[in-house]
Order: sequence, then structure tokens, then C-alpha cells
Amino acid sequence: MAEVDVVIMAAGKGTRMKSKLPKVLHRLGGRALLAHVVHTAQQVGATRTIIVTGHGAPLVEAAAAAPGISFVRQEPQLGTGHAVQQAVPHLSGEGVTLILNGDVPLIQARTARELVMACGGQRLALLTLSVADASGYGRILRDEAGAVTGIVEHKDATPAQREIREFYTGVMAAPSGLLKAWLARLTNNNSQGEYYLTDVVAMAVADGVAVVAAHPQSEAEVTGVNSPLQLAELERVFQMRQARQLMVHGVRLADPARLDVRGELLCGSDVEIDVNCIFEGRVTLGDGVRIGANCAIANAAIAAGAVIHPFTHIDGEALGVQVGEGALVGPFARLRPGAQLGAEVHIGNFVEVKNSTLARGAKANHLAYLGDATVGERVNYGAGSITANYDGANKHKTVIEDDVHIGSNTVLVAPVTIGKGSTVGGGSTITKDTAAGSLAVARGKQVTIANWQRPVKKPKG
Ligand code: UD1
Ligand code: CA
Repeated sequence: MAEVDVVIMAAGKGTRMKSKLPKVLHRLGGRALLAHVVHTAQQVGATRTIIVTGHGAPLVEAAAAAPGISFVRQEPQLGTGHAVQQAVPHLSGEGVTLILNGDVPLIQARTARELVMACGGQRLALLTLSVADASGYGRILRDEAGAVTGIVEHKDATPAQREIREFYTGVMAAPSGLLKAWLARLTNNNSQGEYYLTDVVAMAVADGVAVVAAHPQSEAEVTGVNSPLQLAELERVFQMRQARQLMVHGVRLADPARLDVRGELLCGSDVEIDVNCIFEGRVTLGDGVRIGANCAIANAAIAAGAVIHPFTHIDGEALGVQVGEGALVGPFARLRPGAQLGAEVHIGNFVEVKNSTLARGAKANHLAYLGDATVGERVNYGAGSITANYDGANKHKTVIEDDVHIGSNTVLVAPVTIGKGSTVGGGSTITKDTAAGSLAVARGKQVTIANWQRPVKKPKG
């Protein structure tokens, strides 16, 4: 295949988004619209990718900067032809130039590749689509033999031309050398006073260059984002694509319409995901993992056979979270960065774990906090217990050795070590290390007063 340069137009304002954020930086599936288009350019094997920026250029350039990508600024914005003119100095004189839009995120690599093939470095290839009502779009003009003769913009079209159902999607592939020559000849003699990229079509016809059309698989592929409503609609299309892909790989989704993957979700076999789960960043689910309803899971690796019960919140951020084989987590559990649960660990409701390692079989089943702790095998960490890891200035470590039993409502004031096999009585505030095999109790002794008379309410008046 010929060398491909990709020009991505991203200078437009996006007024209807009514947002301070440049339009192409709004997110779809957790990534900027522009990032989706750049990804497509990479999949097509672009040698050079040139992004035309204008509105919000510094922000857009900072967000999209990457090896192999260059930026040109278009100020002011005088039309799509003017936009591509700015990229000309970066284009190689040979091969194919593919033109994409920064606000059309769902174009498939396969469609873009087909368009490049249709161009073949010799023809002008347009991505077109026929719909019942193509209002607003540039219409494809064809002669009696069906050959493309030009594109007329909606605003410049006659009533008869406005009946045409085939429209130009905004995506084309052109022989780079010819495109450069055509761009140099554009004028702005039209109803909008813009330099229309679409005028190159008539030039190609006049030069005897064949103009061919290719088509997308679906309308969503060529739908642009102009408003929050369109963004939300494309989000659902994108999520359904991902859901289908997961199901093709055998993942059992309770409802593909109630899943959101805003990143990368890798699943083993026999994975089940209940409704309303959100996955962000990079999440891996091992064989047989089950995720209950309403879980939000980000940057985590969940090993085979683990079960995450409903309403659990997991976010590993940069450090990650690891859940071991066969572990049970939730409902209503919270795993924070650096939580590393071994095999068969149980984390129950309203338990928070941060930057802590729990060895095989350790359990914290109710209302507890473990922060900056190392927890041994088979430890039982009682309801309502916490590690007091923060002294107001610094964080300190708690070590709980194998087979320890921590009673309910215990405060472990770090730094502190609870020796192997030892027991801590419920309600204790532990400030000193405990010896292996010991019982530590640190609370007021119980006082019992016999025949206690409770106060009685005085009569009124
Ligand atoms: C363009 C096509 C039209 C096609 C439609 C598909 C032209 C003249 N017309 O319409 O035939 O049906 O796309 O959506 O090309 N942009 C710039 N700089 C500019 C103008 C636009 O970067 O000066 C960018 C916009 O940000 C957007 C894209 O180019 O990403 C398309 O611009 P838009 O104004 O939406 O398209 P039209 O020109 O109306
Ligand atoms: Ca326009």
C-alpha cells in the first residue's frame, strides 16, 4: 500500500457544545474525541499525522502531542479547504493523503483503509452515504452514467440538488501530489465565502482524474459531535460496540446496554458482569470472575474465581489494585490504590482498604479500615476496627502477622506490630507491639454496680 499521510481537521469551535473545553477534547469512552481519530490514523498505518488546530489550539496540542504527530494552526478558520492548505508543507508529495475530522470519532480503521485502497494514489476517493434526508450536508453530484462530477454544499444547492440523498461525509483520500495542486487553486466564490475542500472534486473531474466513492458500514461511523446530545448518542453506539466485542469473546453481560467501558477491559473465560458496571483505565478479569451490579472498577487486576459483590468501588489509580484468586469483595466495599488482596481473602461491607497487603485467607468482613498495613494469612480483622495510620503529619505502618485475631472495634495505632497468632480483645486501643501467641486487651475494665436505679421522669407542672 502507498505511503499515507493523515490530515485531521480540528480547528472548529463547537459552539453548540456550550463548553469551555475545545470540542475535540470532549470524552467518548473515556478518551478525547480526537484521540479516537488519531488511533484510527495509526491503525491505517499513517506515516505522518498532521492535526489542524485553531480554537483552543494550545489545549488541543498539549492533549494530543505524541511521536509522529505534528500540528499546524489555522487562524482564522476560512473553511475546510483552507484548513487542509495549512497542512500542505507537511505532506509528502507522494502517496495518499487521507482527510479525517477530529470530531467524528467512530470511523472504523477498516473503512478508512478501504478508502485509501480506493484512492490507490491515482483516484480521488470520497466517503459517501445515502440517507433519507441529507439536509445540511454537501451533496454528491453524478452524471447519467453515475460518475461523480462534483459536490455541492447544502447552502449553494438548488432545490433539485437538495433532493439528492447521497452526501459527502467529510472524509476523503487523494493522491498527495494532485491534492497539493488542487488546493493551490481553490477560491472562495460561494454563498459562505469559504474555501471549500469539496471543490477539489470538480477539479479532479476537469483534470481527467477518476473520482470514486466508498461507503461506511454505518451512519454512526461518519456522525460528527456537535452537541451534548450527539456526544451521548455516539457514546451509546461506542459502548454497544465494546459490549458486543466482549460477548463475542464469551463474556456474559446481563445487559449490554447497561455497561460502560472507559478504557481497556480484558476478560478471561466465563466472566459474568451484572448491570450498571463502569470500568475505567486498565482492568483485567480472570477466568470465572463475577462482577455484581453497580460496581465501579478502575485500574485493577482481579484474579480467577474472584467475586465482586454489588456496589463495590475499586480504584487503583497509578498504583493499581490486585484481587487474588477466589477472593470475595463487597457488597459496598472500597479498594483504593495499593490494595493487594491474596487468594481467598474476604472483604465485606463498608470495608476500606488502602495501600495494604492481605495474605491468603485473611478476612475483614464488616465496617473496617486497613491503611498502610501488612496482614498475614488467615487473620480475622473484626468489625469496626481501624488502623490509625496517620498521626496528623506522617503515615505509619501496621503489621498484623499470620493467624492473628483482632476483636471488634479495635484501634491499632501505627507504627505497631501484632505478633503471630496473638489475639486483641474487642474495644482495645493498641499502641504497643504484642507478643506472638499473647492476648492484648487495652480498654477500661468493666465496672458493675448492683441494683442500679435508673433516673425517672419528673411529673409535669
Ligand atoms: C463539510 C463539507 C460537507 C460535508 C460535511 C460533513 C466542506 C466545504 N463541506 O461541511 O460537504 O457534507 O463537512 O460533515 O468541506 N474545520 C476546520 N477549519 C475550518 C472549517 C472547518 O478545521 O475552517 C473543521 C471543523 O472543525 C470540522 C470539519 O472541519 O471538524 C468540518 O467542518 P464543518 O463546518 O462541520 O463542515 P462543513 O464545512 O459545514
Ligand atoms: Ca462550516
